[in-house]
Amino acid sequence: MFSSTLLLIVISYVLLYVSWVHVIIPTFLSPLSKIPNAHWSASFNPFWMLWVRWRERENRTIHAAHVKHGNIVRLGPKEVSVSSVDDGIRVIYGGGFEKWPWYENQFNNFGVPCMFSMSRSKPHSARKRMISNIYSKSYLQSSPEVHTIAKVVIFDRLLPRLASLSSKQEAVDVLHMHMSSTMDMVTAFLFGLGNGSNFIQDLKAGQEWFTIYQSRRPFRFWDGELPWMKTLSKKLGFPLSPPFVAEATNWIETWVTERCQAAQTWTRSVKEQPTDEPRTPAIVFDHLTNTVSGTAEDKSLGPPNLQIASEVQDHLAAGHETSGIALTYLYWELSRHPALQASLREELLTLSPPLKLPANKADPGLLSPRAVDSLPLLHAILMETLRIHASIPGPQPRLTPYPPVSVAGSPPLDPGIRISTQPYSLHRNADVFPDPEVWKPARWLEPNEKKKAEMMKWFWAFGSGGRMCIGSHLAMQGL
Ligand code: HEM
Repeated sequence: MFSSTLLLIVISYVLLYVSWVHVIIPTFLSPLSKIPNAHWSASFNPFWMLWVRWRERENRTIHAAHVKHGNIVRLGPKEVSVSSVDDGIRVIYGGGFEKWPWYENQFNNFGVPCMFSMSRSKPHSARKRMISNIYSKSYLQSSPEVHTIAKVVIFDRLLPRLASLSSKQEAVDVLHMHMSSTMDMVTAFLFGLGNGSNFIQDLKAGQEWFTIYQSRRPFRFWDGELPWMKTLSKKLGFPLSPPFVAEATNWIETWVTERCQAAQTWTRSVKEQPTDEPRTPAIVFDHLTNTVSGTAEDKSLGPPNLQIASEVQDHLAAGHETSGIALTYLYWELSRHPALQASLREELLTLSPPLKLPANKADPGLLSPRAVDSLPLLHAILMETLRIHASIPGPQPRLTPYPPVSVAGSPPLDPGIRISTQPYSLHRNADVFPDPEVWKPARWLEPNEKKKAEMMKWFWAFGSGGRMCIGSHLAMQGL
């Protein structure tokens, strides 16, 4: 009798303690309790958000919560989403909040971090300083090597393929075609023309690459959100990620290693072996090889050869997918707006030399990137496509720092909270972008400078702050 009463007291005490720590404090007493919940359970358990993410409904669900509750919403016991600029992204991303480990869990390659996945700010800024110059607008616009790459990919590969498809009236998988051209462009920039891919012409190789690369996608949830469950399930003998996922990763890493080796060998022998084929140096690979030195900081990130391989693998992934998606949406929108298509064609034909398959194949001539950059309608179409169909539309999670900071009107937030903003919501602010769901390039031709500046302030397709996209100029030039 006595022991059962004691047991009851212990159980009640434990229940009370658990409710106090995991329900009462987070729901009523923590600073986060002042923030509206996106879901009734959000204050005391993370399952609702995990379920949303598992079903791949994250962006729309978070956006609906912002529409309902305002610029800041609570997504979980220790997670918030913010959708504002001055007291939002400027504080979080401009303030250099460190990345949530979600990045390391999903985006390390060869078992070592790359610039994109590094959590800590210090090694990240060192790496970014190393390579920013070769991704700068001035470098890209003036580099003869980049010019040659664009010439070969566009005139020797893409335009002839389009001409052949058109003459045979053949259907084409547009996403695959765009990813092929962006892969060819990015890998030539990374490894040198000749060492990169040629998926525009070698369709089978491209198909194999993209199939293997994308086969891992459905299992990414476990890496990003519940890596411990993935490890545990493997130990217990019922892996949540089937063996082919690891095999696909090995396959991709081997492919990248081979490209790195080719770039290294070719760079050494380039002067002795001139060739008729247009070749360019491995701009990014060479630059990384010269700069990733054996400093103490570098060693903590892994062996230099793996650091370089991890970095270039990330660039080719970041570069081909994002730009391929943007181009596909751009074509799709243009296909639904024939009048705009005609206006764009007119604008493009004002360029000299004109962008069409050249009669003189030996010297096609290439548009000056500066001239292309200054076409207002083309620019408006790109901006509007990236606004409504941002290639990375979802949350970019960071970690609140110490000492506590307040964001978007919240009370000071404890350190270690997952905090994010998503382009999907910023780009749908109806006060800044009226009719936000409508693809309307004309909004970017707005003569009112104040309105235009406000739109630019809210445009966040490439992120902002120290971790902003390094490839934004390459992407805009490529698109
Ligand atoms: C339309 C095309 C592109 C879009 C919309 C885009 C978007 C973004 C965004 C939003 C980020 C920040 C992500 C975050 O912090 O979570 C990012 C980072 C990054 N992007 Fe891009 N990107 C594009 C093209 C490219 C290209 C062509 C490359 C390189 C070849 C590239 C390389 C990178 C890298 C290396 C980072 C990490 C930068 C850092 O951590 O400092 N991206 N990109």
